[in-house]
Amino acid sequence: MRILMVSAEVETFARSGGLGDVVFGLSRALAKLGHEVCVVTPLYGNTPLDREHRYWLGSIQVRVGWGARDVREMGVCEIDEGNLKFCLLAENQLFRSRKGIYGDAGGTFGDNELRFAALSRGALEIAARLWPDGFDVIHAHDWHAALAPIYARTAMGETWARMASVFTIHNMAYQGTLGFEALDRLGIPRELFSWRGLEHEGNVNLMKGAIACANVVTTVSPRYAREILRKADGFGLDWYLRMHERRLLGLVNGIDADRLDPSVDPRIAHRFGSEDVAEGKWENKRALLAEVGLEPTDAPVFGCVTRLTEQKGIDLFLETLPALVDRGARVILVGTGDAALERGLRAAQSRFPGRVASRVAFDGALAQRVYAGSDFVVVPSRFEPCGLTQLYAMRYGSIPVVTDVGGLHDTVEPANIARGTGTGFVAMRPSVFDLLVALEDAIDAYADRDAFHRLRLRAMRRDSSWTLSAKAYVTDVYQRAITAAAR
Ligand code: GLC
Repeated sequence: MRILMVSAEVETFARSGGLGDVVFGLSRALAKLGHEVCVVTPLYGNTPLDREHRYWLGSIQVRVGWGARDVREMGVCEIDEGNLKFCLLAENQLFRSRKGIYGDAGGTFGDNELRFAALSRGALEIAARLWPDGFDVIHAHDWHAALAPIYARTAMGETWARMASVFTIHNMAYQGTLGFEALDRLGIPRELFSWRGLEHEGNVNLMKGAIACANVVTTVSPRYAREILRKADGFGLDWYLRMHERRLLGLVNGIDADRLDPSVDPRIAHRFGSEDVAEGKWENKRALLAEVGLEPTDAPVFGCVTRLTEQKGIDLFLETLPALVDRGARVILVGTGDAALERGLRAAQSRFPGRVASRVAFDGALAQRVYAGSDFVVVPSRFEPCGLTQLYAMRYGSIPVVTDVGGLHDTVEPANIARGTGTGFVAMRPSVFDLLVALEDAIDAYADRDAFHRLRLRAMRRDSSWTLSAKAYVTDVYQRAITAAAR
């Protein structure tokens, strides 16, 4: 099968969170299964180009909009890894001159809809050039790529209109909402501006448009697929998703199990596997505490690596810190984002010196050392489409303490220490009280060394690799989209 992936983030080129990891991991897993995958993403100002690459001869023409000046010449930088190709859109004004995916130090870019319209349209032009005799499916991720299925269905003629397409929702909170004047500007047919199409509360809603145009819509866990049908979690589109429920599917994300492996990871202090997990965790814990300036201890260490947004519930976790410190625990918080939450992180460190350490940073290597060196990783999200940190944590022998939402519900089985089952601790609701209960349970479990060791092994042995999900994407998603498009 030939698959065109379109995403604003792809790990190893540009990443701000889980989206980049998922697009990269899924694409690689599909290629390993023997499919041909072309991943299209922009060549941003800070995209590293350290891998072998070549520029296509001649540029492609990308039309974004209806004006006479709305055609751009773009270069294509290709990285060829056999079945897996990356095609980076090289254009100076929109991408290469900007040091950021969505914004830079000066804030969010004001023309993101235009930039991502160019990405979406450019991806289709690249596929047409790469596969002149056709391909099988367009797979677009989040609102930034929403215009790929929309343009294919409505703006590019008969052949494209029959192309199978899949749209994956990684987060309902970001829908790409624009004023109605964006219609003409982005070359979207006016017929699509209705309640059945991409109109939402008088605005253009790109996510809604992609849901309307794609043959199959997926999200990143089965539980989240059900949650977004409810008013509380649908961010205004729950009614629309309920209308299209038959075409909506939830598939849980995997992780790149080859790269994220504590027995080979060069970024951690001491490599270890399940055979020497006790020593390995101990050595990494010592190194981590020293690195972030915390007092050495036998007591449990709680780590937390996150984007700092309301979604992630870090404010809830901050309120539990006095109780954790009181029980002797150490806490390491790593993240960037919302200014008030960044202040909260810094304040926690000054309030509990030697006990709580905060790093206001987006630091992938430190994140790995937190997974390797902590006993628990806390994920207190208010909602969580899938969540990857709990999967990374388990792989590195760190026990997740999570809320019972979305992908956290689907990937963390509540531990029953007496029966010797489960892989983590689950707070019933995203509240300070429920989180405290789960954290207290975690500390109690830690005290029983043998039982805790077995819990750790269960967590490490959980299969979070992409293989299963990638196969399901082929049979349950792409095949279905192809069948639907042919009707
Ligand atoms: C978004 C979601 C997160 C998910 C990731 C990858 O970042 O918030 O839950 O794991 O996308 O799908």
